[in-house]
Amino acid sequence: MSKSANAAVAQQYEKWVYPFPIQDLSTPEVRAKWDGGDYERNWLTFFPNKEFRNDIDVLVAGCGSNAAARYAFNHPPARVTGIDLSATSLAHENFLKEKHGLNNLSLHQMRIEEVASLGKTFDFIDCSGVLHHLPDPVAGLRALGSVLKPEGTIAIMVYGQYGRTGVYMLQEMFRLMGLGQSEEDVAMVKQTLAALPKSHAVQGYVERSRDTKYDAGLVDSFLHRQDRAYTVQQCVDFAKDAGLSFMHWWDNILYYPEGQLNMDHPFYRKVNTMPDSDIWQFMELYNGTLGQHGFCVCRPDRPESGYRADFSGDAFMNYIPVSRCREVPRRTDRPGVIGVKREPHPVYNLDEASAKLFRQIDGKKTIRECFAASELTGDAVEQCRAAFRHLWRLSYIFVKLP
Ligand SMILES: C[S@@+](CC[C@H](N)C(=O)[O-])C[C@H]1O[C@@H](n2cnc3c(N)ncnc32)[C@H](O)[C@@H]1O
Repeated sequence: MSKSANAAVAQQYEKWVYPFPIQDLSTPEVRAKWDGGDYERNWLTFFPNKEFRNDIDVLVAGCGSNAAARYAFNHPPARVTGIDLSATSLAHENFLKEKHGLNNLSLHQMRIEEVASLGKTFDFIDCSGVLHHLPDPVAGLRALGSVLKPEGTIAIMVYGQYGRTGVYMLQEMFRLMGLGQSEEDVAMVKQTLAALPKSHAVQGYVERSRDTKYDAGLVDSFLHRQDRAYTVQQCVDFAKDAGLSFMHWWDNILYYPEGQLNMDHPFYRKVNTMPDSDIWQFMELYNGTLGQHGFCVCRPDRPESGYRADFSGDAFMNYIPVSRCREVPRRTDRPGVIGVKREPHPVYNLDEASAKLFRQIDGKKTIRECFAASELTGDAVEQCRAAFRHLWRLSYIFVKLP
């Protein structure tokens, strides 16, 4: 593949630095807002069968203006490498490196497709919002797989197709108008957005997305020269086509019915009889607004038992649940029911048995031990399956695998 295939994308990110450059990584607001790819907060998503370690090799592939410095700042023992096409973005990463004295950060202007030339391998690769801009995304992901350590994880975010329907309509409109990426063109985008019918398919995206609030974000959304989007099945196939294994989604709540359908409805029971991959597709179509998909992939030789949570047999009784949510006061006349909440999601009710099990979660006890300590009686496996699978599908717990 020629370098010129990336040239239009490089030119865009040279001029329209993305995302909005952070000036100081130490402020509480900047620190609080970071979750998606933070391997410490999400360790059990990326490495469900390993104890947390901070001294790992991290690659931030297509790091943009902030992400590599952010990893290096938040994880001093980690060795962080940032690569990007855009010299302007790397200059800002370098500004942050110098400002915060980040000796654990190295930066390189290069294409993802050439990453093997660094001669390094990585435990964790963050590639967020990048692969959908490559001329050949599969070749890019394959290149990342070639520098992944055997037990490593790649965390990927790509655009979701249905939530961006309106974005692609506008991209087409602006193409017909002959817009490029100049300041005047961005002004025209703003005027057009202000004049669109309130019922237009893009309005939900305009409201939800941070990218519609500043110029480089508007260019990224509506005047991009190269982007594509994926359905959930295409994400799974994408991993396979690059010779890698699809592990799971970052946030199960978006892909399972528990957080979105009424569980007393026959509709819910019907969806729940489907295989997992059909449930994900169904929920994507039901939700209708997913504009991004976050998921992780690994090498095919990494043993599946080390990352795949499976609630179908009874081996899950040896998993260790770790809470990601908090109990909140709940006004209900049903005895023993409690509410649980994880930001930014709603409060969900747990019935009496699930509440008793939830209260035993301490990050040390296995599910079997939680049941024994709960003083519940009856079928341990069925009660635990119902409670812990439910919490895991909500992403309100992690599970530590043996
Ligand atoms: C949307 S930004 C995402 C930045 C960062 N990952 C984040 O989440 O904040 C996409 C970045 O990918 C870079 N990029 C696009 N194609 C690339 C390629 N083939 N190799 C390396 N970087 C690339 C762009 O220059 C841009 O900085």
